[in-house]
Amino acid sequence: MNINKIKSEFPIFSKKVHNNDLVYLDSANSSQKPLVVVDRIYDFYTKEFSNIGRSVHYLAVAATNLYENTRVSVQKHINAKDKDEIVFTKGATEAINLVANTYGNKNLNEGDEVLITELEHHSNYVPWHYLRKSKGVKIEFAEVNNDGEVTLESIEKKITSKTKMIAVTHLSNVTGAILPIKEITQLAHSKGIPVLVDGCQGAPHLNLDMQDLDCDFYAISCHKMYGPTGLGILYAKKKWLEELPPYQGGGGMIGEVKKNDISYGDLPNKYEAGTMATAQVIAFEESIKFLNKLGMQNIIKHEKELMEYGRETLMKNNSVKLIGNPKNQGAVLSFTIEGIHPHDIATILDEDGVAIRAGHHCCQVLHDKFGLPATARASFGVYNTKDDIDKLNASINKCKKIFDKK
Ligand SMILES: Cc1ncc(COP(=O)(O)O)c(C=O)c1O
Repeated sequence: MNINKIKSEFPIFSKKVHNNDLVYLDSANSSQKPLVVVDRIYDFYTKEFSNIGRSVHYLAVAATNLYENTRVSVQKHINAKDKDEIVFTKGATEAINLVANTYGNKNLNEGDEVLITELEHHSNYVPWHYLRKSKGVKIEFAEVNNDGEVTLESIEKKITSKTKMIAVTHLSNVTGAILPIKEITQLAHSKGIPVLVDGCQGAPHLNLDMQDLDCDFYAISCHKMYGPTGLGILYAKKKWLEELPPYQGGGGMIGEVKKNDISYGDLPNKYEAGTMATAQVIAFEESIKFLNKLGMQNIIKHEKELMEYGRETLMKNNSVKLIGNPKNQGAVLSFTIEGIHPHDIATILDEDGVAIRAGHHCCQVLHDKFGLPATARASFGVYNTKDDIDKLNASINKCKKIFDKK
């Protein structure tokens, strides 16, 4: 991959941060946007704008077709069986809430168990916690090991006759561990348990094949895939979307509305109530084209090289302690430096234009487990280079020197 060429497609990299080139190492939080995506939003609003699915005029029909084209492109990108299995949401968080609400309200009762892991982002814990509060559902946690991984065995250990849902991350946003989703799904299905995958970090960095993974639900965050904010995707097997009740009520999701009864629309409209994020969906088509132009295999190879170089570099740095050492790791490196709070690390790195994230990364259960209030995290995207990692390391050394003097 020609990274300089890729970088030139992202206008943000012409910006200086505190008079330095921007070294953006926060893609797990949100990726930067290529110009094609930004231009598509501008073009849609200035030349093609209309609401979708309602009016019959020229602009409305054209916009509806564009919106539906993206649905088909997403279907192909993740190899879903049917385009109706793709539901647009406002984010991965909403996608998981949709499942917790509809599946949870219909199928979970007091004493039933939802099995998640100690790695989960709050987005894949809090929605299930609501069911704990409202229905007495129990939440079980599959254990993370010292390498920051959750193994198939640790999932198996926590499955009981009461387990009614397994909800796991594909790729940890803290340790970078990639979970064996296909094997987890096979195990779960052999016991009649559905599987939801939080694919926020999986979708931008892995090749997705829903038919091969065979999970029941997969939540995607478009703003981490070089796409617009305010947009997510729920992939769900058609049988679930047919069987489960709607999530939100309103225009666009109905069949007929009478004074004494209401019927719901066909799939996937049943789950897309109200005016949707039309411009974002239409622009997301460009994100998919961008990813496909680069090729997911090339992206995976590039990011693996970066992650390995990053690991090697930071392991050689005696001040740095890496969090976790997963055998199968995505483009995320979390670390601490003894005696320096991660927020101070992030602030000092920022002076050099190095953007990382500090905090618990919405994974407090994991941080509690490791006995850490917070960590610093560098995460990579298609536009990063080994030079970015060298700058990260140099900036860490500067940070250490400042604190050593104190
Ligand atoms: C693993 C994981 N799950 C869920 C989310 C939430 O995604 P969204 O911003 O699309 O709601 C994030 C975002 O940081 C994440 O990293």
